[in-house]
Amino acid sequence: MSTSVLSDKNRAALMSKAALLHNIAEIRRAGSGKQAFCAVVKANAYGHGAVDVARILEAHGVDMFAVATFEEAKELREAGIKTAILILGIVPLEQVVAAARQDVSITVHTVQYGLDVLHRLRDEKASCKVHIKLDTGMTRLGFATDKISLDNTCREIASLFSDSVLIPEGMFSHFAASEADEAFTALQIERFCLVKDRLTMLPFRYVHIANSGACRWNNDTFNLLRAGIVMYGGSPDPAKDTGLDLHPVMSVMARVVQIKTLKEEETVGYSRSETMPAGSKLAIVELGYADGVPRQLSSIGHFLIDGQKARIVGRVSMDRVALDVSSLDVKVGDWALFFGQQNGNMLTADEVALLAGTISYELFCRVASRVPRIWI
Ligand SMILES: Cc1ncc(COP(=O)(O)O)c(C=O)c1O
Repeated sequence: MSTSVLSDKNRAALMSKAALLHNIAEIRRAGSGKQAFCAVVKANAYGHGAVDVARILEAHGVDMFAVATFEEAKELREAGIKTAILILGIVPLEQVVAAARQDVSITVHTVQYGLDVLHRLRDEKASCKVHIKLDTGMTRLGFATDKISLDNTCREIASLFSDSVLIPEGMFSHFAASEADEAFTALQIERFCLVKDRLTMLPFRYVHIANSGACRWNNDTFNLLRAGIVMYGGSPDPAKDTGLDLHPVMSVMARVVQIKTLKEEETVGYSRSETMPAGSKLAIVELGYADGVPRQLSSIGHFLIDGQKARIVGRVSMDRVALDVSSLDVKVGDWALFFGQQNGNMLTADEVALLAGTISYELFCRVASRVPRIWI
């Protein structure tokens, strides 16, 4: 990968359009191939840049984008995105009519909220596409689907669609552990199907439950795949391989701005948390926790410099880290890779996340806006 686009930068995220398109093709190849595709681009496309990602994917024909808030949907519409958009979060009633006017679909998670939305829209002579959210075991948002609640839930959902103000576009649920717990996932599917089978009179175009952890399944419980992390090249569980050939879309790197050779008893960084033997060589690199490097990586994480591991010495500070390059040939101006790929060398976000006790989702989302995203 050429780094010439970085000549006036000390920190950057190189973004690979080819990797994004490769990942989508790989996800589609691995699944049944029968489902429509909803690209989850909430949280600024997991830090990758929602407008950029949506523009690339719209040109390659995904069926829907999923966001978390009305503001995120509005940003995409204002950027000229025409593809269907679903807001997965709960839209405040004050924003519902605006969402409808932007042709954005909303999530309804309780009968009370559905009725409130209905009344708002009716007052404004508007209508809106709706996706019903079922709680099949995540125990967050949604209509209850346990056996005791089933009859009531189905009655409540049906009651929302007695006129054409709410348009039944979709019904969905979310897995709690699709990558890890087969038995619980099977229970969630069973609960989902019980509701689905009782509401066949409602013409939902999309029924959807599968996220990244389920994107390789070949079953007809759902006709829309709602995938996020795998598109960006991450795994739902950093300790588990997805079994897919995924490429990192984002590679975060920063420049070495100073080299130091330590003298006897010199300590490194805040709190003087680490001492290195005299003669050790440090590279000071312009990327810190304000850029998205978790402070938990202090003394235990590493960057890659020209494919070689360079451990973080002492505390990660706000704007920089110190790396142990005692055995490496490093000079000022070299680039250190925090995660991603550089010149054929790879340090995955999942590996880094595992060390930091987190998940690649969080690492991606934490990459700060001051780290310029450069699409190549
Ligand atoms: C409702 C919902 N659907 C789908 C996704 C995408 O999940 P993943 O990135 O694991 O594919 C998320 C992510 O948080 C979500 O909240």
